[in-house]
Amino acid sequence: MATLRTAARRLVLGQSFAKPIVSFQSHRSLMTLPSFSLEGKTCVVTGAARGIGKEFLTAFALSGARGACVDLSLQSGKDSIAHIKEHISSQPTVSNSYDPELRAYSCDVTSESEVQETWKSIVKDFGKVDVVVTAAGIVANYEAENYPYDRWKNMIDVNLNGSFLFAREAGKYWINQKLKGNLILVSSMSASICVRPQKQAAYNASKGAVSLLGRSLATEWADKGIRVNSLCPGYMKTDLIIGLLEHEGQEIEDNWVKDIPMGRLGHPSELQGTVVWMASDASSYLNGSDIV
Ligand SMILES: NC(=O)c1ccc[n+]([C@@H]2O[C@H](COP(=O)([O-])OP(=O)(O)OC[C@H]3O[C@@H](n4cnc5c(N)ncnc54)[C@H](O)[C@@H]3O)[C@@H](O)[C@H]2O)c1
Repeated sequence: MATLRTAARRLVLGQSFAKPIVSFQSHRSLMTLPSFSLEGKTCVVTGAARGIGKEFLTAFALSGARGACVDLSLQSGKDSIAHIKEHISSQPTVSNSYDPELRAYSCDVTSESEVQETWKSIVKDFGKVDVVVTAAGIVANYEAENYPYDRWKNMIDVNLNGSFLFAREAGKYWINQKLKGNLILVSSMSASICVRPQKQAAYNASKGAVSLLGRSLATEWADKGIRVNSLCPGYMKTDLIIGLLEHEGQEIEDNWVKDIPMGRLGHPSELQGTVVWMASDASSYLNGSDIV
């Protein structure tokens, strides 16, 4: 019994019982399946200045990866990285000496030339790229019959075209370099269901297209060793959702929750395990899938 209690205490403290299988360059001693490790990998995350993208970059750094934080403003990217590093250094299971290599890049994902330049800089700075996650995205609500066309085009531009531009650079690079790439498109549950009561035809259409883009690229690139999958979150309480609730009224959240079997919105950190699994060799036979 005492041994069990000591064992449980050591687990809580993040200490291992035997020689660890995964060493995290001696930064950590938690036992976990080795294939989940991202040590030695470089992960690029768009929209990583906040929200889901920032959670993903945090999860990747905690799993041993180097990472690029791509977002509209360089300063917001640098702030995000500073916050991620602060969070990591406060983790009791991570050694004080662990300082993940994270770099910020300013890039509007709707600009073909900016995406191309940013991609070149990332490859030059890191030497190689293994994983790309396209989390940059927006949401907006207008009733369909009065949807302003410029807003419609902007939605498609950021959510769909921005994902495609990064996917194209990554795919071209992996194919030319004969590398096994891993692309994760951030789609949404709205790719497959119409949520209510908010009216968001353009958002739903953009995410439906992102998911089908993912399956198309997965089919085209599988024989080159490149995996492509879409992550389709439900409601995660990020600034995007907080902003939407402020705009539409807090009572909407109560309506949503009625339709969520778990009875609550998700916390963005609850996607960390899923994205690490998708980005790592633990999911080596996952291709062309929507993880909802
Ligand atoms: N939060 C949710 O409940 C939820 C659910 C399903 C899908 N998603 C998707 O997850 C992704 C991230 O959402 P979030 O909730 O973290 O949003 P967020 O608004 O908190 O973060 C989005 C990030 O993308 C960046 N961005 C926006 N336009 C950009 C552009 N043109 N170029 C570069 N960066 C740009 C923003 O600056 C911001 O940092 C989006 O694609 C969203 O559709 C979110």
